[in-house]
Amino acid sequence: MTTRLRGGKYVVQGGVVLRGAVDISGAKNHALAAMCAALLTDEEVFLTNVPYISDVDSLSELLVSLGVVVERIPGGSLRMNASGVNVFEAPTELISENRASFQVMGPLLARHGFAASAPPGGDVIGQRPIDVHLSGFEAMGAVVEREGERFVARTGAAGLTGARVFMDYPSVSGTQNVMMAATLARGHTTIVNAATEPEVQELALLLNAMGARITGIGSQMLEVEGVDRLHGTTGRVMPDRIETGTWAIAAVMTGGDVVIRDAPVGVLDALIHKLRATGAHIEEAEGALRVHAEAPIRAVSFQALPYPGLATDLHAPFAALLTQAAGVSIIHERVFDNRMLYVSELRKMGAEIVSTGSSAIVSGPTLLHGTRVRALDVRAGAAVLLAAMVAQGTTIIDDVYHLDRGYERLDEKLRALGVELERH
Ligand code: UD1
Repeated sequence: MTTRLRGGKYVVQGGVVLRGAVDISGAKNHALAAMCAALLTDEEVFLTNVPYISDVDSLSELLVSLGVVVERIPGGSLRMNASGVNVFEAPTELISENRASFQVMGPLLARHGFAASAPPGGDVIGQRPIDVHLSGFEAMGAVVEREGERFVARTGAAGLTGARVFMDYPSVSGTQNVMMAATLARGHTTIVNAATEPEVQELALLLNAMGARITGIGSQMLEVEGVDRLHGTTGRVMPDRIETGTWAIAAVMTGGDVVIRDAPVGVLDALIHKLRATGAHIEEAEGALRVHAEAPIRAVSFQALPYPGLATDLHAPFAALLTQAAGVSIIHERVFDNRMLYVSELRKMGAEIVSTGSSAIVSGPTLLHGTRVRALDVRAGAAVLLAAMVAQGTTIIDDVYHLDRGYERLDEKLRALGVELERH
């Protein structure tokens, strides 16, 4: 288990050039969705390559509170059996820790006809509504009501009915929630304007391995033919594309040379394209990337977009890189309305960034200096960590528990690549 204590601090010595190799862990967002899928069957779901991150711990705890038997097996596997589920309401303190937890709603509703939860938590990266999830359930015949702090969803005796569901926004977890619910609905569901993120595709494949009948995987139109029951399966969590991007950006930013092993090379087009535009060298091999760069780094502009565009989760780390690039870079955030938390922290380190609404303008290169900053969310935390690597002197980063939510064995991987740091 990882620590889920709030706080924690890194003391990072700047001026490092990353060299060596790093192994990518299993993807947070695939693992979390796949864990929720275990609720759809009374048979065992066995996942390998599950990362040791605090979001997995908090979702495990939530599943246990519902009656799921969850067993962590050393080496990164997770065995889950939801045959004994007897609670259909997610505890508020656990749901508020982790936004992915709201994805227990679709499976509980589909299999048991009832589900309740407070609105989900997660990073403070803007308004994170759940209307897309709820209207999907309603389209399939559920009645959803707000009872105090909780959303309560119920079906009639016949359960959910297949429907044509339009997603007002191609929400990642919304698509996953509605898709999971549709697997056990009576009849056919079409999800229009579905999210196409690789983690959504991987979830669909896992569900099919459990007996679901989903087609259109990877497109914005998912077709789900409901079945009576799903069975157990074994699945491997895909490598984390955001972790891959973070290490690749760090390699470029420090003028280093890093081999990134077990990288999901086939889903990194936007990242590779943009890094090459900065002048970085990227060699792709089966399951690995070699990333190396030397000064000067060129300024590039980008938009953070739904897949296959550049991931919003890489916006902040990429912005940190651009503080070292020669020229002016313009960034537009198109997914979340408050991704700019990192700006104030990078400015404390000397970065020249101005942000207006969902855009930022970065001028570089700037000489960053070590100071005291905070990890304000998991990706804003990655941005200041990257900045600390190139800063002059020592940077103290508070609240690094945010990084524990999404980066497995971070201290160990940083040290192996040459970063001098202490954790307190
Ligand atoms: C998931 C990822 C997160 C990533 C994000 C976007 C998980 C656990 N987290 O978050 O790491 O940054 O995708 O790739 O998988 N929206 C609505 N209505 C809804 C739901 C969302 O309007 O009902 C809007 C949000 O306000 C936001 C946008 O959709 O602007 C993206 O949110 P969404 O795709 O739902 O992100 P998450 O699934 O929460």
